[in-house]
Amino acid sequence: MSAGRLLAAGIVVVILVLAAREHGLIGRSERPPPHPPTPARLAFEAESSAAEARAAAARRQAEAAQALAQAPEEESVLAEGPGRSETFGYCTACHNTALIRRSAFDRERWDELMDWMTEKHGMNPLEGELRQTIVDYLAAHYGPRQRGPRGGNPFLN
Ligand code: HEC
Repeated sequence: MSAGRLLAAGIVVVILVLAAREHGLIGRSERPPPHPPTPARLAFEAESSAAEARAAAARRQAEAAQALAQAPEEESVLAEGPGRSETFGYCTACHNTALIRRSAFDRERWDELMDWMTEKHGMNPLEGELRQTIVDYLAAHYGPRQRGPRGGNPFLN
């Protein structure tokens, strides 16, 4: 092969290599490195994942509360005493006894609550002897000094 041909072949090779690089067929294309996240972006991401965690916790809590409110109960969850079956029978049509057991009202407040339940929540009006029995029962066992979240603290009643 003559020197002239060799040279020509060399030039062709160089041109092909340059063209291939130009079109990105060989060699590494240089991409700029991604920007590091800004502090604002980091704060936003942290805040949104915290908000998601809070929402998930709230959902779990609501589900647990719902499950608790609908859990089947025996009459014996209520304190023993006259009027217990009437109270259990009448009061668990719409919610279980959790609302009752966590309450600590005096007789007057329990009495008002019977009307409130009727007016606001459509409970059948509770009248006469049955009302007496139930309100007496509630005041006796779920009064301010017996039970409830205030634990019978006389200074809070
Ligand atoms: C017709 C349906 C219905 C009946 C029957 C019913 N309730 Fe309720 N009661 C409700 C609803 C609805 C609420 C509100 C629930 C809530 O806030 O999550 C409620 C709330 C309550 C609360 C919470 C009140 C407060 O302010 O914390 C108590 C205590 C309660 N009921 C006691 C009773 C008692 C005692 C009886 C039986 C005499 C009774 N309920 C019968 C529907 C009813």
